[in-house]
Amino acid sequence: MSATLDANSFRAAKILVVGGAGFVGANLVATLLTHQPSRITVVDNLLSSDMANVPAHDLVRFELGSIADDRVLAKLPTDIDFAFHLACFHGNQSSIADPFADHDNNTITSLKLFHWLSERARPKKVVYAAAGCAVAAKTWDEPAATSEDAPITLFHDSPYSISKLIGELYGNYFFRRGGLPFVRARFQNVYGPREILGAGRWRGTPHTVWRNVTPTFIWKSLAREALPLDNAGQASRDFIYVEDLVEGLLRCALDGEPGEAYNLASGVETSIRDLAEAINRLTGNDTPVDLRPARDWDNSGRRYGDPSKSQARLGFSAKTPLEEGLRRTIEWTRAHRDLIARCMAQHEVFMRVPAKD
Ligand SMILES: NC(=O)c1ccc[n+]([C@@H]2O[C@H](COP(=O)([O-])OP(=O)(O)OC[C@H]3O[C@@H](n4cnc5c(N)ncnc54)[C@H](O)[C@@H]3O)[C@@H](O)[C@H]2O)c1
Repeated sequence: MSATLDANSFRAAKILVVGGAGFVGANLVATLLTHQPSRITVVDNLLSSDMANVPAHDLVRFELGSIADDRVLAKLPTDIDFAFHLACFHGNQSSIADPFADHDNNTITSLKLFHWLSERARPKKVVYAAAGCAVAAKTWDEPAATSEDAPITLFHDSPYSISKLIGELYGNYFFRRGGLPFVRARFQNVYGPREILGAGRWRGTPHTVWRNVTPTFIWKSLAREALPLDNAGQASRDFIYVEDLVEGLLRCALDGEPGEAYNLASGVETSIRDLAEAINRLTGNDTPVDLRPARDWDNSGRRYGDPSKSQARLGFSAKTPLEEGLRRTIEWTRAHRDLIARCMAQHEVFMRVPAKD
């Protein structure tokens, strides 16, 4: 077992975080700053994020624009020790509404970035935010924990899911062909502070505002609204607190074997109904949940990830129990109510149009 992560692990390191204004990226940058790096370059086009997530710090240099834009690439420093690729066109529903925007921000981005890193920068490690949902088996039966070498279907429910896999394939290609030290971190369902509902531009569906299940439920629960449970909340997910996930990303950067994938998972299956009830308990919301039919595109069923390889090879474990992580996320939401309300309000006019999904 490796355990090289300590306070000096990233001291004086030069780091590139693509998609660093986003939810996970902002948490990663905040943690990296505690390691005294020499420089963090954040590239983000603010498609699904807000400048409030970019710290005004001497060591952080922010480049506004797409990583697929040659003019942005030309401005980046080439002496990079670690690169993290977190940029994406956020979410399954947005990608179904606009597959071409998904391609522009989720597929060509990976190709351009990995090509540029191979040719120009040659970092010690490149860590890619892969998605556990793109590899998980679809089942409503008792699921087995998804391992890194689980078989992957060629039939996907969304362009987002396809493009997350394409990122893995391009990274592996540059690893095999040019020796790019490429590591895939496969995320389960991440939740925590700095996920801002409504952050960024309108992306074609109400999921621009209602990004992910946890922040949506917390916001509605704090407003004493009924939490909407698609398919009666029978689906399940593996919820991982963002602080734990960020530690996993750092461990991937330090000890991840190039060419390998590592699950960043809690290994715990939680039904959406249980998540809703936990949140309502913590906020004191006694409005009954709203049981709804299944969404037509969503065959995702029950699933969770197997963290045993990451545990054995990287010394990774998700330490934060769900209730504790939710409590901290609720606290953060309460403290940032105005910021979130401002980001949500940007889309008010679009939200008045009836939803198609
Ligand atoms: N949050 C989760 O539960 C989860 C689960 C699995 C995988 N992931 C992956 O983790 C990564 C981070 O997710 P997140 O939840 O922080 O999403 P996010 O939307 O908050 O962050 C993505 C960031 O990428 C930026 N971006 C989009 N297109 C870009 C481009 N062309 N150039 C530069 N920046 C661009 C966005 O503006 C945003 O800041 C994504 O790649 C996502 O696919 C997340």
